[in-house]
Amino acid sequence: MMSNNFNEQEKDGLYKAIFSRRDVRSHFTSEPIDDEILTRILNAAHHAPSVGFSQPWNFILIKNEETRKKIKESFILENKKASELVEDPKKSKYLSLKLEGILESAINLCITYDPTKFGPFVIGRTSIPEAGIYSVCCAIQNLWLASRVEGIGVGWVSILSNEELKKALELPEHIMPIAYLCLGHVTEFAKKPDLETEGWLSRLKLDDVIYYEKWEEKQNTNWKKIQELIKENLEYA
Ligand SMILES: Cc1cc2nc3c(=O)[nH]c(=O)nc-3n(C[C@H](O)[C@H](O)[C@H](O)COP(=O)(O)O)c2cc1C
Repeated sequence: MMSNNFNEQEKDGLYKAIFSRRDVRSHFTSEPIDDEILTRILNAAHHAPSVGFSQPWNFILIKNEETRKKIKESFILENKKASELVEDPKKSKYLSLKLEGILESAINLCITYDPTKFGPFVIGRTSIPEAGIYSVCCAIQNLWLASRVEGIGVGWVSILSNEELKKALELPEHIMPIAYLCLGHVTEFAKKPDLETEGWLSRLKLDDVIYYEKWEEKQNTNWKKIQELIKENLEYA
């Protein structure tokens, strides 16, 4: 029988996956992904939690060059629009960033949201309709971590027109693309996010993102021990 607890080695494995997962854009190799590995990764994604067990995701696997080129064109256009929103001197920095690996990666993968799966009533989605989209994001994170364990890099490209994506992939009107991902073997998983290495932004301290009981409350005495631990900024990575 499977134990309820993880032993130390199993825990280390999970934390290693979490802390060494990266968004990969520039380190893809041309090596194809083994189909058994890809199946395992997709199965991990499919075992994510979902509101009311609605499993509202679909995974569209893409190799076709023509499709990828269309998506890349959309990226180029949208990236140009984005760059116009950035003021100098950050603008030239922005333009130097590598923000996609659409053509270099072994495959592309579009993960979609279907709000109609299992009919209009979904347990837990009545008050917060976005819970359906959140469920798809849970699947994406499972996929990202499983890929890391398999040595496969994943890069999320959101600088795209969803309309162009829908046309290129022939999505029905009610299907919403949530993520466009590039997957492939990599030469390395960087130690830090590329945007941190490039000096764009840094990781916030854990202490900066935790409040106690209420928005912006930092000093609540019922949380003393954890406040101290968090201040020490426990780094597992
Ligand atoms: C919803 C979402 C959209 C993203 N879109 C892009 C993107 O269009 N291009 C890109 O280079 N990275 C994209 N990223 C990756 C983030 O930049 C990356 O996760 C962040 O810089 C932290 O780096 P890490 O994932 O390596 O830890 C996206 C990530 C998320 C979660």
